[in-house]
Amino acid sequence: MWKPPERIKYKPIDDLWPSREDAAASRLFSPISVGSITLSQRTWVPAMVPWRSNEEGEVTADVLDWYRRFAVGRPGAIVIEATGIRDVPSGPLLRIGDDRYIEGLTKLVDTIRAASGGQTKVFIQLIDFLTIRKRPDRQKYLERFLDVTDRHAQALDMPGASTAEVRETIQGLNDDQLQTVLSAKEWEDLSFGYRQRVTDTQLDEIAQLPQRLPTLFADAARRAEQAGFDGVELHYAHAYTMASFLSASNVRDDGYGGSASARVRLPLEVYRAVRSATDRDFVVGCRFLTDEICAAGSGLDDALFFAEQFASAGMDFLSFSRGGKFDDAKQPKVGWAAYPYTGQSGYECMPSFISDDFGPFGRNVDPVALIRQRLRSESLQTPCIMAGGMHTFCQAESILERGQADIVGFARQALADPDWFEKVRGGFGDQVILCRYSNYCEGLDQKHKQVTCELWDRKELDADEQAEQVVMSHDGKRRLIAPLWKRAISNPSD
Ligand SMILES: Cc1cc2nc3c(=O)[nH]c(=O)nc-3n(C[C@H](O)[C@H](O)[C@H](O)COP(=O)(O)O)c2cc1C
Ligand code: SF4
Repeated sequence: MWKPPERIKYKPIDDLWPSREDAAASRLFSPISVGSITLSQRTWVPAMVPWRSNEEGEVTADVLDWYRRFAVGRPGAIVIEATGIRDVPSGPLLRIGDDRYIEGLTKLVDTIRAASGGQTKVFIQLIDFLTIRKRPDRQKYLERFLDVTDRHAQALDMPGASTAEVRETIQGLNDDQLQTVLSAKEWEDLSFGYRQRVTDTQLDEIAQLPQRLPTLFADAARRAEQAGFDGVELHYAHAYTMASFLSASNVRDDGYGGSASARVRLPLEVYRAVRSATDRDFVVGCRFLTDEICAAGSGLDDALFFAEQFASAGMDFLSFSRGGKFDDAKQPKVGWAAYPYTGQSGYECMPSFISDDFGPFGRNVDPVALIRQRLRSESLQTPCIMAGGMHTFCQAESILERGQADIVGFARQALADPDWFEKVRGGFGDQVILCRYSNYCEGLDQKHKQVTCELWDRKELDADEQAEQVVMSHDGKRRLIAPLWKRAISNPSD
């Protein structure tokens, strides 16, 4: 992953933790309305893909175990990982693209409700993504995949040569020569792997996205409602289809690209379709970027406009992230696909402990605060959720106190210690296991390996393993879920 050149190393802040009484009186542990429902506290576990599903995209026993563990910590809300709205093979990514998924998803909701004693609300993140392929082997690409045309013959000054002759010549070129003969797109396909964009409107399936996506999202949301979720989070962030429509790099000329108003049109149409397909009490919100952190991408001005549009349209919450784009992703190895969290934009999405003068904690606070302030100045009361480097009570409480956000998201901190919420609420903050922001978990995500935290495998926990049934990852080396908090075992209702 890209790291700031300053290379300053940070440690998590080991803070003053509140007493049980102080926690009870805090903003963080006070309820808040989100649409028609109330969260028992202003804490939120943002979506995190743990690669626990199967090739069918089903809710497996491992998926249930993963979310049960988070629910034991009783955060205000859990957002289930990015879940595919199309019923197409997507590796072990959860899917909601057909009614047959409702049964498994119902079990998932029931599991979280039971494990949290009904304290945690459950949302599911709905995602659409475009085709991306692995970086091909050079030889194979030039031999089989490259569509040799007259343009190549002209570039090589080989008029009248056969396709086979042109191909053979191309195969003999070095990289510098090849780059002058291939188009920019062909060069990208070879050196990064083929990747569709929302601007590839010469392809029917891409041209038709505005006609197809509202129904696909609406059907997925209806299934989520049937499965008993409290609501859905429309994934309008990072490197995926809806974020690409919002992006300043979207220059479609069919009314869905170009100006910011045209770029927000499809996300609004998707939202309205989802609203019409579900009950008015069903919570519908979205996650989008305060900044794409890319030269050609959208910035804070766009985000201010989009937030105002989403809130005015009636969304129940706005959750914010930043960066996480393909545009600046590192070149993958042959046989691997590009990963949108390897460049600077990826760093801004999941900052690691090696950072710059600002540091990895709260890089999205100021942009979210500005957006929230703008909404409030227009009498729009939509709750705003911020995340990024949050791990202490004081950080979170001061953000709420200053009115910079309404709800605080803890992603990697909840992964490192899912009991953070119960520990802090109960006056046991000194027992919190703090995330180191090492991004070991994110490295596993990149390889589509079962995501775990490096802190779960500490040697000093080994003695306790005798008492627990420890389930290990496929490679047999790592605990699959966080160790239990011993106090939680001895007195779970405390
Ligand atoms: C393993 C892993 C998987 C993630 N998957 C998703 C996802 O499915 N959808 C999403 O919007 N963000 C995803 N994220 C980003 C987090 O939701 C969050 O925005 C980011 O980690 C920054 O917050 P943090 O500093 O509290 O971890 C993922 C992060 C990690 C570490
Ligand atoms: S592996 Fe654990 S400690 Fe490292 S960033 Fe992920 S959650 Fe935090």
